[in-house]
Amino acid sequence: MTELISEIEIRALTVDDRNWVALRLEQNWGSTRVVSRGCLYYAHTLPGCVAMHEDQIAGLLTYNIDGDAIEVITLNSFKPGLGVGTSLLEAVRKAALDAEPAFRRLWLITTNDNLPALRFYQKRGFEIATFHRNSVAEARKLKPEIPLFGLEGIPIRDEIELELPLNKALKSEM
Ligand SMILES: CC(C)(COP(=O)(O)OP(=O)(O)OC[C@H]1O[C@@H](n2cnc3c(N)ncnc32)[C@H](O)[C@@H]1OP(=O)(O)O)[C@@H](O)C(=O)NCCC(=O)NCCS
Repeated sequence: MTELISEIEIRALTVDDRNWVALRLEQNWGSTRVVSRGCLYYAHTLPGCVAMHEDQIAGLLTYNIDGDAIEVITLNSFKPGLGVGTSLLEAVRKAALDAEPAFRRLWLITTNDNLPALRFYQKRGFEIATFHRNSVAEARKLKPEIPLFGLEGIPIRDEIELELPLNKALKSEM
């Protein structure tokens, strides 16, 4: 998974990346632990990819494979608005389609408070597949550090499941 999209280079994470990945996840999410649909992940141990821009780490995506589905577990851009987030998603979409056999599902969870992420993903072709009302209460049993309030002071309550139809190109205004 190595791509060059304008000046953003994407490469796959290796075991050697784990220390800085853990540090970045702690800085951005308060922990390397991520709960999604009742599963607890130590995200720094997952496969993923890193975006480089001007020799600096510009973004990080981790994912989990389960059967014929890939779930994006974390996505962070450290240089917003340059196309880093879009490039990381595009790299995973391409890898999902190029795999033998190809994956059938690319999906992710975000929470109800993360309006910028909901906007970002839907503008790139992700569709809301379903939502899980009050499921974050269960997630807090696995990860008590999930705050009660998120972006803009919105109570964090629900998991929203988004899916990218893999037969369509990733939409982007870049
Ligand atoms: C959501 C997130 C990953 C987006 O990353 P990003 O690198 O800013 O994403 P992009 O640069 O690809 O796209 C962002 C905007 O910049 C614009 N953009 C992209 N490339 C551009 C370029 N070369 N020049 C100018 N603007 C550009 C895009 O049009 C896009 O705007 P739009 O959403 O109105 O279409 C980032 O905001 C983030 O890390 N958020 C915090 C963590 C989070 O919530 N993650 C998701 C939940 S798991």
